Amino acid sequence: MMIGLFDSGLGGLAVARALRTLLPAHDLLYLADSAHCPYGPQPIKQVRARALACSQWLVAQGARVVVVACNTATSAALEELRAALPVPVVGMEPGVKPAVAATRSGRVAVLATSGTLGGERFARLVARFAAQIEVQTVACPGMVRLVEAGTLAGPTAQAVVYGYVAPLAAEGFDTLVLGCTHFPPLRPLIAAAAPAATIIDTGPAVAAQTARVAQQAGVPVGAGALRCATTGDPARVAPALGRVWGEALPVELARC
Ligand code: DGL
Repeated sequence: MMIGLFDSGLGGLAVARALRTLLPAHDLLYLADSAHCPYGPQPIKQVRARALACSQWLVAQGARVVVVACNTATSAALEELRAALPVPVVGMEPGVKPAVAATRSGRVAVLATSGTLGGERFARLVARFAAQIEVQTVACPGMVRLVEAGTLAGPTAQAVVYGYVAPLAAEGFDTLVLGCTHFPPLRPLIAAAAPAATIIDTGPAVAAQTARVAQQAGVPVGAGALRCATTGDPARVAPALGRVWGEALPVELARC
């Protein structure tokens, strides 16, 4: 029995890391749906189908809680997953509420995927918490590609990140929401491109919520293992996964 997490690719590892800190002895199973990455530009129906397939695979492997470690999949499918799965499901969405609390300029930028930013869930979030402030949305597919390639530093990564972030800082957006799990691994570059900005990442809060749900669901302590799987080619995914996680890990093939 373990806690299962999935994302379109490697971004959700940041949530796994935060969860590992809170529940060091629980077993985690991480699924990267690399064969179908990126989710961002895909039609909602397709993302929903993939989210369901990934979640069902995790449950079949023994997951007793499923974490949708992906804002795009949460936006497309959270309700459907909750209705379809026999275990609790934890989702995530861009941290608009904490950003509104943090901004001094009244100008907040949300970096996410086009799928998340165009979704009804995001529209509701902005209407509820950010009606009085300026919210600029920016889809950053180039940053998703960087993380999938395991390119977290160096001139290419810097040029891509600065291209998205530096103009926002120059325009006075003082709070940046990382509304896609692929962006926290690029946080040092994002912070360097917008040195005065407050950066909001909901990953730690999602991990805390997952820890509560896992305890309520009675997920037992295990061996503190992290098992990683991909729907893509494990030999190609493993090096990038090792760079994002910070240490080499075995990656198995998931057929789902
Ligand atoms: N990591 C995902 C998210 O949080 C999506 C990246 C993608 O597949 O486009 O939204």
